[in-house]
Amino acid sequence: MQAPPDAFVQARGIGKRFGALTALRDVDIDIRAGEVLALLGDNGAGKTTFVKVLAGAHVPSDGTLRIGGDTVRFASPRDAADHGVATIYQELALSENLKVAENIFLGHELVRPVLGVPFLDRAAMRARVRVLLGELDAHIPDIEAPVGSLSGGQRQAVAIARALNLDARLIIMDEPTAALAVAETRKVLNLTRRLAESGRAVVIVSHNIADVFEVADRMIVFRRGRKIAERKRAETDPDEIVALITGAHPDARVADQP
Ligand SMILES: Nc1ncnc2c1ncn2[C@@H]1O[C@H](COP(=O)(O)OP(=O)(O)O)[C@@H](O)[C@H]1O
Ligand SMILES: [Mg+2]
Repeated sequence: MQAPPDAFVQARGIGKRFGALTALRDVDIDIRAGEVLALLGDNGAGKTTFVKVLAGAHVPSDGTLRIGGDTVRFASPRDAADHGVATIYQELALSENLKVAENIFLGHELVRPVLGVPFLDRAAMRARVRVLLGELDAHIPDIEAPVGSLSGGQRQAVAIARALNLDARLIIMDEPTAALAVAETRKVLNLTRRLAESGRAVVIVSHNIADVFEVADRMIVFRRGRKIAERKRAETDPDEIVALITGAHPDARVADQP
């Protein structure tokens, strides 16, 4: 049998302190291409801190991070982006008054020289936007519309298309469905699966157990800054995951020692 390829992300012994507070302690996590990994845990458990370490927004206090085979020490989100890590935060960071294509290409516009003078290549950008949205199976009838006029699910699609345009290989989504209606949630979950099926690694932080069981291949539960459990979806059920999150499960005890 062939050995499975190395995980795209290999986090080992990751710790993060903020002054006297230990937000993460000795966290080992592998994140593989082609799978959706869910991070769960009560408020303050350390999920966002871990994601921010991956995204280059926090420098870890301890541990090592290997991404795509390189040992990395990100100084900024830009460094993480250069290694194929894209993070889609709840607030999405889109410009409401700009069009879909303008948002997707913001800061990375395509230009074409006309008599030696660079002009924005709007036709090429529109064509690329259609390809990206098509890949995501996202239906945005009017890509000339300002992003402010789109639904929550459509905005998620724009934010993800922006990440794909920058060649993201790991896409991190922090609470992507928290503000969405049921039908829109369904679309974003489908989109999440498509990203994994296209060979990207996907991390989703979510409080919604039903959503997690629908999309995630693997689940990791944090408690008080520690990773206390890792389960394949097929090996667990919502009751067990809830017990791990709330601390009722015996495996949660390790986090409750001083
Ligand atoms: N920038 C920061 N400065 C100080 N403490 C922080 C900072 N960010 C997070 N924390 C603390 O770290 C712990 C973990 O927080 P967080 O990762 O946001 O948890 P979660 O996303 O699981 O709710 C919490 O106690 C939180 O108050
Ligand atoms: Mg959080």
